Amino acid sequence: MTELVLPQHTNALGTVFGGTVMAWIDIAAAIAAQRHCGKTVVTAAVDDLTFVGALRLGDIARISARVNATFRSSVEVAVTVEQEDLRTMARSICVDALLTFVALDEKQKPTSVPPLVLENADDHAHSAAAHSRREARLARRTHPKT
Ligand SMILES: CC(C)(COP(=O)(O)OP(=O)(O)OC[C@H]1O[C@@H](n2cnc3c(N)ncnc32)[C@H](O)[C@@H]1OP(=O)(O)O)[C@@H](O)C(=O)NCCC(=O)NCCS
Repeated sequence: MTELVLPQHTNALGTVFGGTVMAWIDIAAAIAAQRHCGKTVVTAAVDDLTFVGALRLGDIARISARVNATFRSSVEVAVTVEQEDLRTMARSICVDALLTFVALDEKQKPTSVPPLVLENADDHAHSAAAHSRREARLARRTHPKT
């Protein structure tokens, strides 16, 4: 996804509101999850969202999402937001985030998702890392089912 940073996206410092970037991240990740699952998905969790650099008025925001791993009814999606300077075309990473989406059936209940086809070493590494993060993420659930 590509966004142009406009005055309505910025704060008094001329940088983008964190919440605006978070909305872009959620949308890009949801599109990636929904394309993979072929079903409606909802955001279940957002973690490891880190702002490492600012986006300024007039910058281009390049938002990339990839499905890292699939589980039974959920998928982990990684999102990177890059700042692109329109004049120099230089890019730098501004935000990283990990999101979990759950696919829902027509009764709005969690439903199985298709497995991810891992095609190369990079895909395998991302999937393995996502599987090891899953345990810790679920252990942090504040309202786990009993
Ligand atoms: C996300 C939601 C569907 C999970 O429903 P639930 O009845 O608690 O589901 P379950 O315990 O059966 O778990 C279903 C899946 O969600 C995953 N899940 C639930 N909470 C999670 C969390 N905090 N982090 C990561 N995964 C989570 C479970 O691991 C499971 O995945 P799996 O089948 O791949 O193992 C439900 O909590 C919900 O609807 N939340 C609100 C979603 C929302 O409104 N999002 C914002 C707008 S899109």
